[in-house]
Amino acid sequence: MPKIGIVGAGNVGATTALYVAQKELGDIALIDVVDGIPQGKGLDMLEAGPVLGYDSKIEGSNDFAGLDGSDIVVVTAGLARKPGMDRLDLLKKNAEIITSVTENIVKYAPDAQILMVSNPLDVMTYIALKVSGFGRKRIYGQAGVLDCARYRSFIAMELGVSMEDTQAIILGGHGDTMVPLPRYTTVSGIPIAELLSQEAIDRIVQRTRDGGAEIVNYLKTGSAYYAPAASVVQMVESVLKGKNRVLPASVMLEGEYGLDNVCVGVPVKLGENGIEDIIELQLSDTERDELHASSAVYQESLSDLGM
Ligand code: LAC
Repeated sequence: MPKIGIVGAGNVGATTALYVAQKELGDIALIDVVDGIPQGKGLDMLEAGPVLGYDSKIEGSNDFAGLDGSDIVVVTAGLARKPGMDRLDLLKKNAEIITSVTENIVKYAPDAQILMVSNPLDVMTYIALKVSGFGRKRIYGQAGVLDCARYRSFIAMELGVSMEDTQAIILGGHGDTMVPLPRYTTVSGIPIAELLSQEAIDRIVQRTRDGGAEIVNYLKTGSAYYAPAASVVQMVESVLKGKNRVLPASVMLEGEYGLDNVCVGVPVKLGENGIEDIIELQLSDTERDELHASSAVYQESLSDLGM
């Protein structure tokens, strides 16, 4: 069985572990610094195996050595903003956490790919890439699949059609500068412009941009985790089964889309070696300007961090 490391046993990490087990994608190492949490959640999930019918082993630990032999490591560790902390304080704190997590992955799972989930996603993906030295094929961030999942849900709800029949692509960073592409959004191949008014499309695009905040506003003390974890698992499955799914992911750009030395979301072919290919779409001037504006936000965060 392949081995999947998950760093961070909070809501996103634990839900990812459960979905991975339910799909029997491999054995799971659930790592967290808080004593007892990964052990307790891991054992609890293992004990659901006889009832739900899976044989994935799930081992919780506070020791990064548990990542040994992982094929892929999903990183969900990080802090949420606390009262009195500004955006840059949070950015610095999470940059420290992700640097240390990445060093541990290099030490214990040197052949693994890294799937970043921690926020700010595009910046943390960049840090993991720089710290690990693994090369851009093996480091990618999950955000676009989630943003597309939200966008697709809203389209399905608006039209009263199956969620499954909606297809979309979103470029850019994971935040309110993301760039949904209605031109490349379809319901079973039918462009949404033939099914929805411009007003409805604009409304849905805005709700997608605000999708993370919408859930935070409901939960008050945390952020989304069911849809984020589901999105992670779709990417893990594409890698471990070598499916070559075409999905948006945050990756290091080296000239593609006219961008360099920054990680943002673009469509990729995701397979057994990680990023098998970056797909460059022909963008309109407006789409290209929006993508460049989105990437500028993350370039600024990187320069705030002195990177
Ligand atoms: C979201 C945050 C958690 O989009 O990234 O839900």
